Amino acid sequence: MNDIELVVNEVMEKIKSADIVTLKILESKYLGKSSVLTKILKFLPQYSVENKKKIGAEANKAKNIIKNEINKKKEDLKKSLFNEKIQKEKLDCSQIFYFPFSKGSFHPVIETIETISSIFKTLGFSVDEGPEIENDWYNFEALNIPKNHPVRDTQDTFYLSDTKKLLRTHTSAGQIRIMEKRTPPIKVIIPGKVYRNETSDASHSSTFHQIEGLFVDENIVFIDLKVVLTEFVHIFFSDDLDVRFRPSYFQFTEPSAEVDIRCFFCKGKGCKVCKNLGWIEILGCGMVHPKVLGAVNYNFEKYRGYAFGLGIERITMLKYKIDDIRLLYENDLRFLRQF
Ligand code: DAH
Repeated sequence: MNDIELVVNEVMEKIKSADIVTLKILESKYLGKSSVLTKILKFLPQYSVENKKKIGAEANKAKNIIKNEINKKKEDLKKSLFNEKIQKEKLDCSQIFYFPFSKGSFHPVIETIETISSIFKTLGFSVDEGPEIENDWYNFEALNIPKNHPVRDTQDTFYLSDTKKLLRTHTSAGQIRIMEKRTPPIKVIIPGKVYRNETSDASHSSTFHQIEGLFVDENIVFIDLKVVLTEFVHIFFSDDLDVRFRPSYFQFTEPSAEVDIRCFFCKGKGCKVCKNLGWIEILGCGMVHPKVLGAVNYNFEKYRGYAFGLGIERITMLKYKIDDIRLLYENDLRFLRQF
């Protein structure tokens, strides 16, 4: 009986400070086949009936006490290991991580779209969008570019296998969609991706971005267009930059113009960027052609409008002095991290 008590006291003490591995060892040492208690139970037949009962009951009780204590300790250890793990792996979502996480930034093309959009918003334009998959009507016909017209050659088009659909070659298609669903006054810009079947090189890409502008109302005149675009150039580039409107030709505007800015690389003296012209072309514009207004059933006696379209990549490249359009699509982090 003394031995039993000694064993229980001994093991209880050891369990207190045991880890999970020690528990396993204690379990086999004090409850296993060659443990003192098992041996005591094995030798029971040698004792008198009375002692057999007493010692047997006591040894079994001791085994149960040890078993319970070991199991309890196992549970405690599991719980504290779990809590420790949670504590270690705890993620504080409200914590601001500085080093070694660097802050992300907008892609320069997106940044330009955002900047241009916010400038035009301050000039009273709202921002809308149109679908990238278009059909012939919106991309060409309604913009006064009939089938077989040679001007279609300048916008080599990707047709989808269903040949009635195409990838829009310019955001001008969005003008028609917007006029179709609204009535004037309409004062909107439409940024988005456009597609042309171009071989890519330093200044061409088969996918690029444009921003279209459209203002239709009664009494709109060319000078309104000049004022808005000059203001835009001054805000976007710089206040003192010379701007000129050069007569041009587009099917969907009449009269049409292209806007040039004084080359800020050579200050107008002539260089590689401006092809020795001293001026850099940045956008096309004009007064909306009456045929375009007619295509959306507007009364072209009553309404007039102006429109403009500019290439985002070109403007981004000028602003950040990037000399190869492909850099904008390669996603090389060494390039992107500069913005
Ligand atoms: N859609 C023309 C292009 O892709 C750009 C353009 C020129 C848009 C004149 C216009 C405009 O709205 O009036 O080359």
